[in-house]
Amino acid sequence: MSESTLNLVYLAASVLFILGIKGMTHPKTAVGGNLISGIAMLAAIAVTIIFGNAHGIAIVLAGLVTGTLIGAILAVKVQMTRMPQMVALLNGFGGAASLLVAWSALIEGVVDVTAAGGSGVARADLAGTAVGSIQMTVATAASGLIGAVTFWGSLVAFAKLEEIKQFRKPVYLPVHQLINTALLLLALLLGAWIVWQPWHGVWVYFLLVVVASVLGVTLVLPIGGADMPVVIALLNSYSGLAAAATGFVINNNMLIIAGSLVGASGIILSEIMCRAMNRSLANVLFGRFGPAAGGPSADDVYGGRVKSTTPEEVAMLLEGARRVVIVPGYGMAVAQAQYAIRDLYNDLENRGTTVEFGIHPVAGRMPGHMNVLLAEVNIPYDRLKEMDEINSSFEQTDVVIVLGANDVVNPEARHNPNSPIAGMPILDVDKARTVVVIKRSLSPGFAGIPNPLFAMDNCLMLFGDGKKEVVALTEALKQQ
Ligand code: TAP
Repeated sequence: MSESTLNLVYLAASVLFILGIKGMTHPKTAVGGNLISGIAMLAAIAVTIIFGNAHGIAIVLAGLVTGTLIGAILAVKVQMTRMPQMVALLNGFGGAASLLVAWSALIEGVVDVTAAGGSGVARADLAGTAVGSIQMTVATAASGLIGAVTFWGSLVAFAKLEEIKQFRKPVYLPVHQLINTALLLLALLLGAWIVWQPWHGVWVYFLLVVVASVLGVTLVLPIGGADMPVVIALLNSYSGLAAAATGFVINNNMLIIAGSLVGASGIILSEIMCRAMNRSLANVLFGRFGPAAGGPSADDVYGGRVKSTTPEEVAMLLEGARRVVIVPGYGMAVAQAQYAIRDLYNDLENRGTTVEFGIHPVAGRMPGHMNVLLAEVNIPYDRLKEMDEINSSFEQTDVVIVLGANDVVNPEARHNPNSPIAGMPILDVDKARTVVVIKRSLSPGFAGIPNPLFAMDNCLMLFGDGKKEVVALTEALKQQ
């Protein structure tokens, strides 16, 4: 196979990647988009093996089969709620793979030349090897730095999402940001050394990887568990950048293009999440998120004003309702109440009630969390309405059922400029005729602040586990 055929297939695969990503922007086309991207990746791998089997096809195929088996088993076995952990691991291994490929190219270039020419190697001796030009050495250093940060940062993110005891809470070292800055500067200095004297590169690269690994850990340690989705999207972006850098090291156009696509989409996703929380990326990465001192206490907000209700009372309300909106949140995922809510949805639809779902972009703990759970139980896509689409209709809604959502329906975001969620766009459920909130207690959500919605005149609290209460509610509705 000629190099131009190889690059032609790479180009076609790149176009398919872009079409695949476009497909993934809508639930209806997402499966097709995923398939297109998979085919593109298969084509790219196949031509790479055919074209450049310098290390023997057997070893490449062995790696491919092992990787495919592990990936397939994990993908089938992993629960939907643990998907962010799986993505964290995938990002981490992507970073590690880039780092190792760049390192082996460095070893190949430097060690071979050193062996041939003795100890006095100059840059000219490295011409034609993977570290022969400044571009290659810059890319090698970048790959080591970004790859190591991605690998270790992703492992810490994984540990936080798994709620491993030692990682559950944000960990701050004394002068934490100073330590991070010092580590980054040291890593950059080591990177400059590789560029300046590539013949010392093999062991300097090792030092660079050690320093960047510590940096990966210290960067993610202080970030709260619930901010991990943003961190994971960012690490996803880093893994793409590491791959693109490695593409420059081994002169592989496919790796450069695919890595850049991952790098760009990861950073766009982080930005979308931050905007939906009205926070900056810097605030997520370096700020301390939580309730401000001196904010209203739960007693101030709720004192004697909260009304609790029963499934039977809510069933009566639903019986007379023509339009119902269900707003799910993190609690629906915790309670695994999606099947129960599907039964309630079917029952209401059979009675002729219009039912829609109001989906906040950061409801839950990962992008698209609610969409995934509702798609799992076959709620039609056209019933899932995004925040901007549904907000104007709450005034004409008879009953809103808030299922395990809290911050994303907290009117404090609109009224209180000192609130940690000030300015965060919310679902305006308080404007509906009646709001029923299903949750276990008056405990706060992720932001750690009370929610005045629960004390409003038009709000009723149905206290209990999300799944249990929705099942009871559907039963009560059937008895009507
Ligand atoms: P939250 O504000 O976190 O509230 C979830 C509520 O669910 C809690 O108040 C809890 O109350 C309730 N709950 C927990 N287990 C339950 C169960 N078994 N049955 C019924 N209720 C249960 O959730 P939200 O409204 O979805 O908001 C998401 C928050 O996460 C936002 O602050 C957002 O900024 C943040 N965040 C999201 C993302 C993404 S990408 N989604 C990323 C970073 C941060 P009880 O304990 O009283 O039951």
